[in-house]
Amino acid sequence: MKPLRIALTKGRLEKDTVALFEKIGFDCMAVKNKGRRLILPIGDNQFEVVLAKAADVITYVEHGVCDLGVVGKDTIMEQGSSFYEVLDLGFGKCNFALAGAKGKDFFSGYSTKTIATKYPNIARNFFESKAMDVKIIKIEGSVELAPLLGLSDAIVDIVETGSTLRENGLEVIETICAVSARLIVNAASLKLRKTEIEDLVERMEKAKEGQE
Ligand code: PRP
Repeated sequence: MKPLRIALTKGRLEKDTVALFEKIGFDCMAVKNKGRRLILPIGDNQFEVVLAKAADVITYVEHGVCDLGVVGKDTIMEQGSSFYEVLDLGFGKCNFALAGAKGKDFFSGYSTKTIATKYPNIARNFFESKAMDVKIIKIEGSVELAPLLGLSDAIVDIVETGSTLRENGLEVIETICAVSARLIVNAASLKLRKTEIEDLVERMEKAKEGQE
């Protein structure tokens, strides 16, 4: 049987996911010493980890080339989901927030506000729920730059420690919702490799409980 393939979000979520796998007892040496390799074995070749950007984790799982994925709820909310979200992994915790210049009343005045964000769908939904018409500009990273440069009145972004906002004279105007890392599963894989996947999910859930 070929290994179960797990797409893992590179960067912030990577370390916590590897720690969880090690807690289960999987050998993660290959991932830890990965160099520039992108597909790595874990455990006793029962599993294979694919390192990818968050949005691509969803694409690989949706297309079934990866059976499972570890990705933030922020990316799931932004991209929509045609897969099963089976477990809240309890790490990668942060908030979606509307943020802007410290001390400035964002909601005052009648002009249409401009919002910079990496998450246009989430920003659109948030302002629609307020029946507020805004102009949304998509930014790819370091969104905090947009209000500093005068491109936007505010940003919709994830806030973890709050340091980036603080160190750039910005503050949270309103918290939108909490997010954390999720385990997702391809729908066909869940049917075809049910026992293996359910066993892995159960082990991850137990390891997670021990970690909290
Ligand atoms: C995220 C987010 C904020 C920052 C928040 O960016 O977009 O910029 O982290 O974290 P903090 O509250 O702990 O300061 P990330 O580091 O993922 O990089 P990016 O902006 O280039 O996408």
